[in-house]
Amino acid sequence: MRKNIVAGNWKMNKNLKEAKDLIKGIKKGVSSKKSKGKRVIVAPSFVNLNSAVKRTEKSIIEVAAQNMHEAKSGAFTGEVSADMLSEIGIEIVILGHSERRSIFAESNELLAKKVDTALANNLEVIFCFGESLEDRKSEKHFEVVETQLRESLFHLLKENFSNIILAYEPVWAIGTGETASPEQAQEMHAFIRQVLEKEYNKELADSVSILYGGSVKPANAEEIFSKPDVDGGLIGGASLKPKDFLAIVEAI
Ligand code: 13P
Repeated sequence: MRKNIVAGNWKMNKNLKEAKDLIKGIKKGVSSKKSKGKRVIVAPSFVNLNSAVKRTEKSIIEVAAQNMHEAKSGAFTGEVSADMLSEIGIEIVILGHSERRSIFAESNELLAKKVDTALANNLEVIFCFGESLEDRKSEKHFEVVETQLRESLFHLLKENFSNIILAYEPVWAIGTGETASPEQAQEMHAFIRQVLEKEYNKELADSVSILYGGSVKPANAEEIFSKPDVDGGLIGGASLKPKDFLAIVEAI
């Protein structure tokens, strides 16, 4: 059955010292007993992954990378491969974040390749997707989300989905302070499960964790997480302070 997950996407924040302090703070507030049945994930920048893995070894905190290149190796200056991540103990990678899509022009097609590479290297994928404000205003949000899933994930086999976590992040709610209402999140998450059921089957649709991301804060987390198809959150700004992040973990 699907698990409740809270993941912190630190984006390009925190130097080594700050990353150590943040992990220390989070570690203090989570324990296997307190966080029973929940997964707590942090995603620091590439250069701080190694240290984060070492510092979380004896805790329930898992460490994810924020991106990865689709090729095995080669002349791709500035990029990082799946193999390099696995070698330092990383088992999870975030792919398809809206900032990667909009600033670094990552397409659904490219993301399909990245997903394949990640899974082939036994990495679990947190796959992000979501509509823009324009899409929502023109009532194309369901169509856009279905296309993102279709073009990047629906070539996969049923079995592959045990290594996929979905993260619905409406672009208009990311870093804007404007959150999708719990009803809007639930509506989209239920739609995503319907699409998964249509493409695969109900068992698969019910087994995939779907996180919501976009201005989740301690003040709104509980209400969003109370919705039946919301299995947790992918947190940006509020994951940078131990107190806020822990309050969100508590809320799930
Ligand atoms: P905020 O929580 O800062 O809106 O960011 C969400 C996000 O992009 C997580 O990946």
